[in-house]
Amino acid sequence: MFVEPLKKFDKTLTCKPDKSVTHRAVMFNAMLDCGRATVKNPLISADVLSTTDCMKRLGAQIEVGEKTIEIVRGGIRKNAELDCGNSGTTMRLLTGLLAGCEGREVSLYGDESLSRRPMKRVADPLRKMGAQIDCIGLTPPLSVTGAKLKGIDYEMPVKSAQVKSALLLAGLFADGKTTVHEQSKSRDHTERMLRAMGASIEFDDKKACVVGGAKLHNVDVEVCGDISSAAFPFVLAAGGEGGRTTVKNVGINPTRTGIIDVLRAMGADVKTENIVEGFEPVADVTVRANTLRPIVVGGGLIPRLIDELPIIAVLCAVASGESVICDAAELKVKETDRIKTTVDMLTALGVEAVATDDGMRIYGRGRIEGGGVVDSCGDHRIAMAAAVAMSLSKKGGTLLNADACAVSYPDFFGNVLGLKGEE
Ligand code: S3P
Repeated sequence: MFVEPLKKFDKTLTCKPDKSVTHRAVMFNAMLDCGRATVKNPLISADVLSTTDCMKRLGAQIEVGEKTIEIVRGGIRKNAELDCGNSGTTMRLLTGLLAGCEGREVSLYGDESLSRRPMKRVADPLRKMGAQIDCIGLTPPLSVTGAKLKGIDYEMPVKSAQVKSALLLAGLFADGKTTVHEQSKSRDHTERMLRAMGASIEFDDKKACVVGGAKLHNVDVEVCGDISSAAFPFVLAAGGEGGRTTVKNVGINPTRTGIIDVLRAMGADVKTENIVEGFEPVADVTVRANTLRPIVVGGGLIPRLIDELPIIAVLCAVASGESVICDAAELKVKETDRIKTTVDMLTALGVEAVATDDGMRIYGRGRIEGGGVVDSCGDHRIAMAAAVAMSLSKKGGTLLNADACAVSYPDFFGNVLGLKGEE
């Protein structure tokens, strides 16, 4: 599809529901054999459907509607072969959950991209707990035979909420206490939701501990908006002359708000209003354009904006001067190698950018030239970041594989840009 330069972005939107929270609300309610639960305002996207399908194959009865997902009856009752599609969250969290389900034998596989992503990071610590995980090499497919587990005290070598969540889920069914130490705090949606479900769980900025054996109950969940999806209109507003957006009902869990810190540090005007403190806090967020300065993004900030780095790179391209993204080698093992795909995308649009071992350097010139062709390579966040870069550019651009956005934001082109999604 061709993406035209936008004259001015001035739009009020309701935030897309959160992908991480929807995965967890469906998976955690559907793992329990104790009655109904309703997930209100769920994200209905390809990744979430991977989770609902996997839970159905394991024996849960789930009804996916337009505005709700009903867990009619949960429980992990069947052995199965599970297709996790493109979703790392589905595969890693399920591996942890199934590790302690004695009597179950389950295999998990995914699409081409997921088949390249590392699973050793979850398999190694789970095996320390006593899990039986078979995997040829270090990547999917893999199979899990439920076993009796014991709690461990584990220092995570990677900064990953998916690994932490897998271990906490395994810890629910293990003997004793499982403690996961983090170098930098990653998103804590698992901890918050398990606490609401009655788990014996404690967590702070450095660690999360769960004691196995607590009786859990279902919870109805109202899903907050996804700040990772809101990041695209935020950058459209911040990066173009006279730009403004208000995105309503954005999840502002402090483990996710790194993008707001970056926008402010670069000079954009950001206001949060109507804050509601639920078990996931939400707010209406207004972003207004201003002169942008370059930035260094690294350290403990990285897990708080890991999925936003491709769109942050676009923001750096419209600032004037050299920006640096570092401490972000994790980008290499996302849906694509996002250091490469982000730098390629910027380069194709006339921006000077170079890949480094743990991130990239971007030499912003105030405006993106545009005019090139970008392939999303099937990565939803690259597709949307490229579309925003083209909208902010002088000449626009041609986007291939635009439909990858279905993984997290199916109607992105209509909803945000007022375009149709077809190529
Ligand atoms: C997610 C955690 C992050 C993120 C992914 C969703 C989650 O991955 O990139 O999109 O829902 O827990 P890592 O925790 O592996 O960094």
